[in-house]
Amino acid sequence: MTGSSETTINEPAVVPADMGETLVDPASFANPDKVHEVLGWLRANRPVAQVRADGFDPFWLITKHQDVMDIERQADIFHNGDRSTVLVPSKMARAIEATMQSPHLTRSVVNMDDREHRLYRALTQSWFMPGNVKKLTDRIRTIARVHVDRMLGRDGKCDFVSDVALHFPLHVVMEILGVPEEDEGRMLLLTQQLFGARDPELSRQADAVDDPDKMLAMFQAVLGDFNTYFTKLTADRRASPRDDVATVIANAEIDGKPIAAHEANGYYVLVATAGHDTTSASTAGAMWALAERPDLLRQIQANPALIGGLVDEAIRWTTPVKHFMRTATQDYELRGQTIKAGDWMMLSYLSANRDEDAFDAPFDFRVDREPNRQIAFGYGAHVCLGQHLAKLEMRILMEELLPRLDSIELDGTPAWTQSNFVSGPKRLPVRFAVR
Ligand code: HEM
Repeated sequence: MTGSSETTINEPAVVPADMGETLVDPASFANPDKVHEVLGWLRANRPVAQVRADGFDPFWLITKHQDVMDIERQADIFHNGDRSTVLVPSKMARAIEATMQSPHLTRSVVNMDDREHRLYRALTQSWFMPGNVKKLTDRIRTIARVHVDRMLGRDGKCDFVSDVALHFPLHVVMEILGVPEEDEGRMLLLTQQLFGARDPELSRQADAVDDPDKMLAMFQAVLGDFNTYFTKLTADRRASPRDDVATVIANAEIDGKPIAAHEANGYYVLVATAGHDTTSASTAGAMWALAERPDLLRQIQANPALIGGLVDEAIRWTTPVKHFMRTATQDYELRGQTIKAGDWMMLSYLSANRDEDAFDAPFDFRVDREPNRQIAFGYGAHVCLGQHLAKLEMRILMEELLPRLDSIELDGTPAWTQSNFVSGPKRLPVRFAVR
């Protein structure tokens, strides 16, 4: 192991207790500088080390870009299905196992492995491949223009998150899925209650934030609401198929048999949540950078080809998905540490995206970073299905918005969602002038 004198070769390297507590606490993620300070120290001193935090099963924290890629590349050894794919307190993990007879609250591709994963992923994959996504360009541009016009009509001030970033990707993915516009508000609320469950401002039940029992009951209630909605959607698309992803999921067969209702619901929930909150976060991240750096807007207006670089850099900078967990299926040596079969591991995309060995000056926001090997979409078998869509949406929004802005700056204090899973700016007050 690198840089530690406190451990012998046979004992696992351990993340210092105060750092471990910081990383398991969703509230820390409202202050990204604090989290980056911890992750930076770990990359330099204990890049593969165990977190042993009160209330959590021990897990290995993987902080280096190269290691995250190496682990993701070996999906046959590092499984998604065997234990929770997101960090949950031990008490909640046991309660989920007892009530669901599975380590997961939903059954979806993120929680599957090997052949099963490939088959379920293949059901919708063609919808999200670059060729198909490209066909949506004109429609996405029309939607982007509506949102840009609305923003620019707001008298020079808005909260970019609640006025633009939340609704534009939501509308795009709901159209692809096949959820009508009048139900988008409900989808947004349920998504925020799921991903923002530990943020008292977004949670359905603020007193559940520090109580694993109440938290589990709340997750089940939110998922129950999603399921009620999607069960009706399945019935509708079986009766009257359309050209949308809901129709594909509702009528999907694996090995010649229809998929189970809870599998269809798990699939819808994944697309209906992962498909917008993440893109909203990185879209807001891009605008935050532009609002803090007037030179960026000028640089991009002078050379619109830099918009692609802005999109990649904003995704790296924000890293909306902070982690996913894996479980080792066999003993594995990494940087002198022995990860044992059955061990739980956290892949820190947040850390990997600021790794000094993968990026020059990783703490600089550079729209001309070339190459930009950001790993915010993961890698390997589970790599984000929606990555091409997310990038296309962000590019189109910026193409429509930036030429029309004369200036944009912060108009108050932005705030981050408190979550160590999916998080980004939850408030971004800006003041702007139109050209
Ligand atoms: C998986 C990030 C947008 C759908 C993932 C993973 C990450 C991620 C980190 C796990 C990858 C891994 O384990 O290697 C993001 C980010 C986004 C984004 C940062 C936006 C900036 C989207 C969109 C969709 C989507 C727009 C639309 C459908 C999915 C699905 C999976 C996934 C279905 C599961 C894939 C699998 O397990 O095989 N995403 N995502 N994501 N994402 Fe995204």
